[in-house]
Amino acid sequence: MAQVLRPLKGTFLQEDFPDLIVGLAEPDDSAVYRIDGNRAIISTTDFFPPVVDSPYDFGAIAAANALSDVYAMGGRPLMAINLVAFPDGLDMEILSEILRGGADKVKEAGAVIAGGHTITDKEPKYGLSVTGEVELDKLLLKSGAKVADKLILTKPLGVGVITTALKQGVIADNFLQNAVRSMSRLNNIASQLAVKHNVHAMTDITGYSLLGHGHEMAHLSHVGLRIEFNRLNWLDGALSYAEQDIFPGGMNRNQDYFAKWTKFEGNFADFQKQLLFDPQTSGGLLMAVDPTVADELLHDLVSYGEDAFYVGDVIEGDGELIVRDV
Ligand code: CO
Ligand code: CO
Repeated sequence: MAQVLRPLKGTFLQEDFPDLIVGLAEPDDSAVYRIDGNRAIISTTDFFPPVVDSPYDFGAIAAANALSDVYAMGGRPLMAINLVAFPDGLDMEILSEILRGGADKVKEAGAVIAGGHTITDKEPKYGLSVTGEVELDKLLLKSGAKVADKLILTKPLGVGVITTALKQGVIADNFLQNAVRSMSRLNNIASQLAVKHNVHAMTDITGYSLLGHGHEMAHLSHVGLRIEFNRLNWLDGALSYAEQDIFPGGMNRNQDYFAKWTKFEGNFADFQKQLLFDPQTSGGLLMAVDPTVADELLHDLVSYGEDAFYVGDVIEGDGELIVRDV
């Protein structure tokens, strides 16, 4: 994606848009544009083909995923626009259920769907373009992680493995329902708690996997991350499907690209390494937080019902990732 976007950097010069706080220079979860003083609007979009069979759940997951990039900046969503692709001849009731799932999620977020656009396409796709707001002194970037920070993740991992098991027809129903619940969950409360506890850096874990998004945070913060494999939480079923080599194609692409920054220390089976490159849909927030407030933040997250856990800490470096099995 970064390569495809390169022509933008020739057309739009950073210095010509001083109010564009995030967008042209370092990549982050959303674009941020100052409107006056300390106030800024946030803009982001995401859409994709169905990840589950239930149209309603798909709509809810796609909306939670798109809204998450606003939460990853420490912001609040204000309004959203539906982005829809739908095949000619497919039952319109399916589309209506997708939109209902998305609308319920946007309503839960306290925002409003204010329009949309539909095109005809062979495969359904759904997502949102989201506009939000943030106070600039509370803006949370991928950069900002400091050596000795603790790393907290707010949702379990293994979404790609679970949705691939679904596509292969081998998923157990309780495992699927559990994963749907996790993917549908908004990152709103986690984001508010991160702002309250002055987290140093934050991003959400989505298609590039824990190590891919972790690398971005490490690289942009000019630090390294040390991940403790035994601390990681996995969706029920993810470990056993991974052991049966049930991975989405995106895992290999992530591993091919991000493995060069990753060092595994200890004894890891191949499937354990591959799990760390598993692409997530609507994953949790990865936070780098000062060690003096980390316990309090984690306690708050858990008491608000988040499946939050420590994943490791920030070390010296420049984008490197170390994964330990101790
Ligand atoms: Co993101
Ligand atoms: Co995104």
